[in-house]
Amino acid sequence: MPTSYFMPARILSGKGCVKEHASLLAGMGRHALIVTGRTSARANGALADTVAALEKENVSWSLFDRIEANPSIETIREAAALGRAQASDMVIGIGGGSPMDAAKAVAALLTNPLEGDALFAGFYPNPVPPIVCIPTTAGTGSEATPYAILTDHAMQTKRNMGGSELFPRIAFLDASYMMGLPWSTTLNTALDALSHAAEGFLAIRGTALSEPFAVTGLKQMIQVLRELAVLWKEGVPADEIPFVIRESALIGSMFGGITIAQTGTTLLHAMGYCLTYCRNIDHGLANALLMPAYFEFLEKKMPDRMKLLFGHLGFSSAEAFTSFLKTLFVMMEALPESDIDAYAAIAAKAKNMSNTPVPVSLTELSGMFAACRLPSG
Ligand SMILES: [Fe+2]
Repeated sequence: MPTSYFMPARILSGKGCVKEHASLLAGMGRHALIVTGRTSARANGALADTVAALEKENVSWSLFDRIEANPSIETIREAAALGRAQASDMVIGIGGGSPMDAAKAVAALLTNPLEGDALFAGFYPNPVPPIVCIPTTAGTGSEATPYAILTDHAMQTKRNMGGSELFPRIAFLDASYMMGLPWSTTLNTALDALSHAAEGFLAIRGTALSEPFAVTGLKQMIQVLRELAVLWKEGVPADEIPFVIRESALIGSMFGGITIAQTGTTLLHAMGYCLTYCRNIDHGLANALLMPAYFEFLEKKMPDRMKLLFGHLGFSSAEAFTSFLKTLFVMMEALPESDIDAYAAIAAKAKNMSNTPVPVSLTELSGMFAACRLPSG
């Protein structure tokens, strides 16, 4: 069986790891562009730690703190213009998937004039400056992937800008930054990480070298979700979720990232992007809402492989897995019939369709959207 593996990011984890390993930043560049969202990196301490680490090593820095959820191409170009004006030669992304993905795209644009569809061609003629990622949520795994997911308003969906040049050089994993995350973000991001491990396990591009990462990610994320489900049911406030669970989610998410860095994602992400773009449903939740229909569909098409998947998760079937999901959120409302075929047509065009382990017709795609239930009106 042909196989390959590539994940060049140096991973450092633990409380205080950014400041502890500040010296690693010294040789990477002379002026860092820090790319983040409006508030969370300030509130959780990640920005202060990063600035302290840079200043200790005499690396100057600029801040672009206007990355929105599901960053647009326009925002990326704005950040890259700031970086060029400041002669930035390294980019640090702090936050969830959006700022980290944005940091990768900005780094590529600092040295490469990519217009129109060239942005998504995965070809960077000039060397991309070093990228550092500091995740402050546990879901995307972006710190271990070569992907930057951007919103393309012209295409009405999210698109993947990728290429091995976009792998971070260093990822700092400190779960301290996650202690203030609300329940919704905690659960949605954990579900995203679970979907990465599951899709990597199922993907056509899966290999003997990606499978152990997928299986570890599956086991770790389902354990995290089971523990979160208990705390959620008991009414424990989000800021009392124990550090060990936060850290376990962060490492599990990284396993998901390493997995999809090798395998890519599948139809589930392609469908989820439609719900996110068209209905503003959070990325991880969008995947989770479509998971029951996707898993039931695959259970009929490839029962042996799905049995293995459910075995790693500790369930006997898609139905049993869906029952567990329903303890985390309520699935009630069907999508309007008028939207279903349109969503299926958009999802069918996504690159990750071809990585889905069985052929899927447009009618089958529509059927999965029709089976999907949204949390509320
Ligand atoms: Fe994802």
